Amino acid sequence: MENKSILFVLALFLCSITVPVNSEYHSEGSLKKLHLKEKVTHLHFYLFDILSGKEPGAVQIAQPNITLGSSKSATPFGHLYAIDDPLRDGPNESSKVIGNAQGLYLSSSKSENLTLVMYADFGFTTGKFKGSSLSVFSRNPVTEPKARELAVVGGRGKFRLARGYAKVNTHFLDFKNGDAILEYHVTVLHY
Ligand SMILES: *[C@@H]1O[C@H](CO)[C@@H](O)[C@H](O)[C@H]1NC(C)=O
Ligand SMILES: *[C@@H]1O[C@H](CO)[C@@H](O)[C@H](O)[C@H]1NC(C)=O
Ligand SMILES: *[C@@H]1O[C@H](CO)[C@@H](O)[C@H](O)[C@H]1NC(C)=O
Repeated sequence: MENKSILFVLALFLCSITVPVNSEYHSEGSLKKLHLKEKVTHLHFYLFDILSGKEPGAVQIAQPNITLGSSKSATPFGHLYAIDDPLRDGPNESSKVIGNAQGLYLSSSKSENLTLVMYADFGFTTGKFKGSSLSVFSRNPVTEPKARELAVVGGRGKFRLARGYAKVNTHFLDFKNGDAILEYHVTVLHY
């Protein structure tokens, strides 16, 4: 009995001296040590931003109590939308869903030219990037016909530490109800 308790005390003592003492909350690292190598990935897909119908992908969640800027616009300055929009591999409604864009967009321009600022996470649900996502945080000058470019500022999973850009074309737009199908060409650097 006594031998056992001596062993127990000894074991406790050994444990206590092998517990590392961590007084710092940070340490230095390097990309080399993490064995990270930068890659470039191109993505091509279509975002379906459907406001009409019984199950819209985008819903208005706030607006100012006065109209500022162009009153002709379907989404005047200050209107805020929550989105959960499907991403498809083609422009057709029957094209395969490969992910979704979840987040917010805000009508951000007081001029006649509609501008949206997007705060969205583009998550992929199939293929090589299943479970990974890209963070888009950018102005989206909707009325500019060419070279609409959004900034990709980060990512998760396989897109960890991502940075890049998305070129956006309007494939389809219904001015009356705001329904749109947008073609995305994304270039991202990640590890
Ligand atoms: C809008 O809201 C602000 C703050 O509550 C208020 O002062 C203002 O009178 C409102 N304007 C109108 C047109 O209701
Ligand atoms: C979508 O696909 C269906 C079935 O393949 C086809 O009948 C339809 O014309 C397509 N629509 C567009 C807009 O391409
Ligand atoms: C709105 O867009 C048109 C066409 O691109 C441009 O000529 C005009 O200067 C823009 N207006 C503002 C206020 O940016």
